[in-house]
Amino acid sequence: MGLQQNISLKAYNTFGIEAIAREFGTFSSSDDLASLVENHQPGDILILGGGSNILLTKNYDGLALKNEIKGIKVVYEDAHHIDVKVGAGENWHQFVLHCLKHNWAGVENLSLIPGNVGASPMQNIGAYGVEIKNVFYCLEAYSYADKKVFNFTVNDCEFGYRESVFKKKYKNQFVILNVTYRLNKQPKFTTSYGAIEEELNKMGVKELSIQSISQAVINIRTSKLPDPKLIGNAGSFFKNPSVPKEVYELLQSKFSSIVGYTNADGSVKLAAGWLIEQCGWKGFRKGDAGCYEKQALVLVNYGNAAGADIYQLSTEIIQSVKAKFGVELEREVNII
Ligand code: FAD
Ligand code: EPU
Repeated sequence: MGLQQNISLKAYNTFGIEAIAREFGTFSSSDDLASLVENHQPGDILILGGGSNILLTKNYDGLALKNEIKGIKVVYEDAHHIDVKVGAGENWHQFVLHCLKHNWAGVENLSLIPGNVGASPMQNIGAYGVEIKNVFYCLEAYSYADKKVFNFTVNDCEFGYRESVFKKKYKNQFVILNVTYRLNKQPKFTTSYGAIEEELNKMGVKELSIQSISQAVINIRTSKLPDPKLIGNAGSFFKNPSVPKEVYELLQSKFSSIVGYTNADGSVKLAAGWLIEQCGWKGFRKGDAGCYEKQALVLVNYGNAAGADIYQLSTEIIQSVKAKFGVELEREVNII
């Protein structure tokens, strides 16, 4: 399919922000992609998955391309594992449901995360004690510069908390075409995240299964995260910031209810939602831009907010958290 001019991206981002792309197209293979990008600079191309982790702050004066590469295929199997190669344009939660149906374990804690497979390694998506790097095997990505496809192993991806090589040194240089996940035939349940145990008890679950964990995660998520179909949002707008242990202890002496979790290296990850709530933002609304009433880490568009309104609100939140706690919040959402 060719390119179209001046296309609204409102339906292509879960914030529901109106922004016009100078050019727009879709691709469903690496060959399609190669021909569409031939006469464009990598810095002027925006790859769209489900648009659930972007904030469009202005019209996009370049080429927006929606990845529609499909397919779910078993490529390896032994007594313990099953490797599944998935097209980047497949919906993430539909893939999770496919795994649950076949009893392939490993992604149940990541149920109901919006967006597509292609962005999952980009962000190293995570929830309820599991990150994509725990089930990642490899991926294939198209290089604009070399005009060919490269394979990336888990080490090549340099996964971190909501980070990968594709957001850092290879930013805007590769398009992820497909991802191969290594799933387990014998489940190793991760229920350490407090709320999961609580929800499983509430559900009356006697025997754990990947299906019951998935349902517990879905119940928790729907109780506090806004459904983008009803209220525009991109999930957590900021990362949870880490501080050295000494800083945490100092903060704790001043703010006894502060919420923090100790990292493997001894530093402490603070709950940004708590910091933001303490600054009085939870439930705040100015025009159509707001801070969600049930989860302060989520910024929302109640209807016709501009991307710049949401961005401005995020700047004010960063400033007030810095002033009260001396902690710098970093945006998690990709600002376009
Ligand atoms: P997009 O928003 O389309 O893209 C994100 C970035 O990746 C953009 O920079 C884009 O250019 C780039 N990109 C996308 N696809 C490709 C590709 N194939 N190749 C190269 N670059 C690409 N995230 C979590 O980690 N955990 C959560 O629990 C979570 N909960 C959420 C809840 C809600 C209600 C919402 C709205 C979002 C949530 N998110 C969560 C954030 C979001 O769902 C994830 O980051 C998701 O992986 C984004 O996928 P996407 O396809 O929508 O990416
Ligand atoms: N909290 C508050 N007030 C709030 C929100 C949170 O005090 O308004 C405190 C509570 O003490 C709560 C704690 O913060 O117990 C943690 O909150 P929650 O369990 O909701 O998780 P989070 O840290 O806010 C992170 C991820 C989510 C992921 C959940 C579950 C980040 C940036 N966010 O949120 O991911 O789903 O944990 O694992 O790490 C996303 O990335 O978009 C996303 C939604």
